[in-house]
Amino acid sequence: MADEPGQPPALTTLSLAEQAPSSHAAEQRITPFDVSGGVDETGKLLPVDYNKLIQQFGATPISPTLLERFEKVTGKKPHRFLRRGIVFSHRDLEKILDRHEKGQPFYLYTGRGPSSGSLHVGHAIPFEFTKWLQDVFDVPLIIMLTDDEKYMHTPKLEISDSKRFTIENAKDIIGIGFDPAKTFIFSDFDYVSGAFYENICRMAKRITINSVRATFGFNDSNNVGEFHFCATQSATSFATSFPHIFGSDPLKTRSIPCLIPCAIDQDPYFRQCREHAEKMKYKKPSLIHSIFLPALQGPGSKMSASIDISAIFLTDTPNQIKNKINKYAFSGGQDTAEKQRELGGRTKDDVAFQYLTFFLEDDNELEQIRHAYEKGEMLTGELKGICIKYLQEYVAGFQERRKKVTEEMRREFMAVRGLTWGGNPNPVPTELVEKKGAQKEKEKCGKPTGELKN
Ligand code: TYM
Repeated sequence: MADEPGQPPALTTLSLAEQAPSSHAAEQRITPFDVSGGVDETGKLLPVDYNKLIQQFGATPISPTLLERFEKVTGKKPHRFLRRGIVFSHRDLEKILDRHEKGQPFYLYTGRGPSSGSLHVGHAIPFEFTKWLQDVFDVPLIIMLTDDEKYMHTPKLEISDSKRFTIENAKDIIGIGFDPAKTFIFSDFDYVSGAFYENICRMAKRITINSVRATFGFNDSNNVGEFHFCATQSATSFATSFPHIFGSDPLKTRSIPCLIPCAIDQDPYFRQCREHAEKMKYKKPSLIHSIFLPALQGPGSKMSASIDISAIFLTDTPNQIKNKINKYAFSGGQDTAEKQRELGGRTKDDVAFQYLTFFLEDDNELEQIRHAYEKGEMLTGELKGICIKYLQEYVAGFQERRKKVTEEMRREFMAVRGLTWGGNPNPVPTELVEKKGAQKEKEKCGKPTGELKN
């Protein structure tokens, strides 16, 4: 468990501070396009303040009580990300737990903006967590690849690049281990049409230029595609966008909500979506947010696919991982071995330790490492060695699975087809937990299992 339950691991600053744009103090800024913990008066980059962010965004921290309920309703010990405050905040997660308890349908929705040929280990965090949620809830999962978003947003990117990245990223995502029977992956360039496009237009009609400016910090220089895209990412939150999965009668499918696992940078899209969903007679999506896997340099920014030395990529070799950690991972240790033995290291500032909180499953081992490092019984080199071992293991395991992902498999995941899922095998009889009104809603939604045919 983290020292302070519900608290994300502390990030630190330092070497990237040299790249800070100016010495003027600046507030932290988190949008889908910009993650910065802010800058103090001396120009030093600050760590992201996640407590402040929850307040600014109006989200809710994941409390120990909610975790207990999660465990009770699903019968599963919470994932290490939940236990350690890495998945730290949510919107309406209780409503999803209620539905699971009663055996009512819902689905999972997450995504990736294909901006590079390979994912980094930071991108793997929400996907790993989503896979776990899919196993726990046994529900359909929809993965959106926003090739249009990246094309609009990246001046040098051609549509052909974007499409190539989409194919490679889809294979990486499949390599995480999703179940093809329950998972639909789509690219916007391919799938935008029909019922999905109708929902995009419904949403676009309600989102004003003013609200996009305020939410994303866009100005008159942003292109109209970037403004419009906000509606596209939202429209995947509605089951009516996927008649091949949920059935083609919107009166039946519109009350099926989704749960969106993502890092908190994506929340602004869904704040807009939630604002308008009920006016469109849809359910608001629920969200569950993670913190960012920090850059190797450890300041208030996330790993970035466009800064090679900030990230460990899922394509990196064991040697590249070793060299990057040894050379760039910011250390919370002391300057000399003597001092380290005397004073101990700061795990909250130490990138190698922070990475272990994400990738090392065993709570006891993590605690032993924390204790030894903080007491000066472990030196920085040893800690980095442990981090290298676990990261190499994680990336090698991924690469093994990725090698087996064929073009045929990718086409299967991306084919427009029905899905099969089980839902909660032992729902609590509805009459025990539900009042009459809610019962009616369940009947409207149809059965939770199999294809919802009309
Ligand atoms: P993208 O490609 O920027 O990021 C993909 C997913 O990875 C998360 N993420 C991280 N998580 C932890 N540590 C990091 N360092 C880190 N960097 C990125 C992101 O939050 C995201 O969950 N517009 C989206 C694509 C999208 C989407 C969605 C994402 C469409 N619909 C629904 C999540 C949920 C994008 O460009 O993601």
